[in-house]
Amino acid sequence: MIHINADIGEIPRHIAVIMDGNGRWAKKRGWVRTRGHRTGADVVRAITTESAALGIERLTLYAFSSENWSRPEREVRFLMGLLTEYLDGELPTLQDNNIRMEAIGRLDRLPEQARALLDRNREATAGNTAMTLSLALSYGGRDEIVDACRALAQRVAAGELDPSEIDAAALDAHLYAPGSPDVDLVVRTAGEQRLSNFLPWEAVYAEYVSVAPLWPEFTVADFHAALGEYQSRDRRFGRVIEP
Ligand code: IPE
Ligand code: IPE
Ligand code: MG
Repeated sequence: MIHINADIGEIPRHIAVIMDGNGRWAKKRGWVRTRGHRTGADVVRAITTESAALGIERLTLYAFSSENWSRPEREVRFLMGLLTEYLDGELPTLQDNNIRMEAIGRLDRLPEQARALLDRNREATAGNTAMTLSLALSYGGRDEIVDACRALAQRVAAGELDPSEIDAAALDAHLYAPGSPDVDLVVRTAGEQRLSNFLPWEAVYAEYVSVAPLWPEFTVADFHAALGEYQSRDRRFGRVIEP
C-alpha cells in the first residue's frame, strides 16, 4: 500500500471523482446493472468520510451526468430512486462528520422528492466546516459554462455589468459553485481515460489519475494509492521549476 505523505503538505484542497464501472461490476457477477449502483452508493459513504478525515476541503462526486439522462428509462428511474434514498438516509453521517452538502448541475431536472431532500440536507449542513461534499447531479460541464454565460449576458442586458469587465474571475463567479477552489485531482475508476464532460472549467490544471478498480470495489486503500500518485506528480503550471 502506498502511504500518504502528509508532511509534504500535498493533501489536495479539491478532489473530484468520476465514479465509473458500476454496471460492469454487476455484469461480471451475472447481476443486473442496478445492483452495481446500489453497492456503489455504499462506497460513496466510505470515500466521503475518509476525505473529511484527511482534511480535504472539497470533494466533488460525479453521480449523474447530463448525458446519463439518455440511458434506458428504467435505469434512470432506479438511479433517481437510489439518489432519493441516499439523500434521505445520509444526513446523520454528514452531521457526525461535520460535512456540508451541496450540489451542482441542472438540479431542476431532478425529481421533486430528491430536490426537496437536497434542500433539506443543504440547509441542515450549511454550518458544517470539516469538508464540503458537492454532488454533481444532472451535471454537464458545457451546460455549466453555458449557464454562466447566460447569467453574465443577463447582467450586461440589465446594465449591471460592462462587457469589458468579463474576465475569468467574473465567469467563475457565475458557475454552479462560485468561489470553490480549482480541482487539484481528478480520480476516475474503471480504468477509463476521459473526462466525460466533468468540470472542464474547474479542472483545467488538475492532475488526472485513472485507476483500475470498478467503483463498487474501490477501497479506501485504492483512494490512498491515487493520492500517493498525485503526490508524486510535479505540478508546474507552465513554469520552469529550477532544481
Ligand atoms: C457509473 O457506473 C455510474 C453512473 C454513470 C451513474 P456506470 O453505470 O457508468 O457503469 P459502467 O461504466 O457501465 O460499467
Ligand atoms: C460518467 O460516467 C458519469 C458519471 C460517473 C456519473 P459515464 O459512464 O456516464 O461516462 P462515459 O459514457 O463512459 O463517457
Ligand atoms: Mg460508465
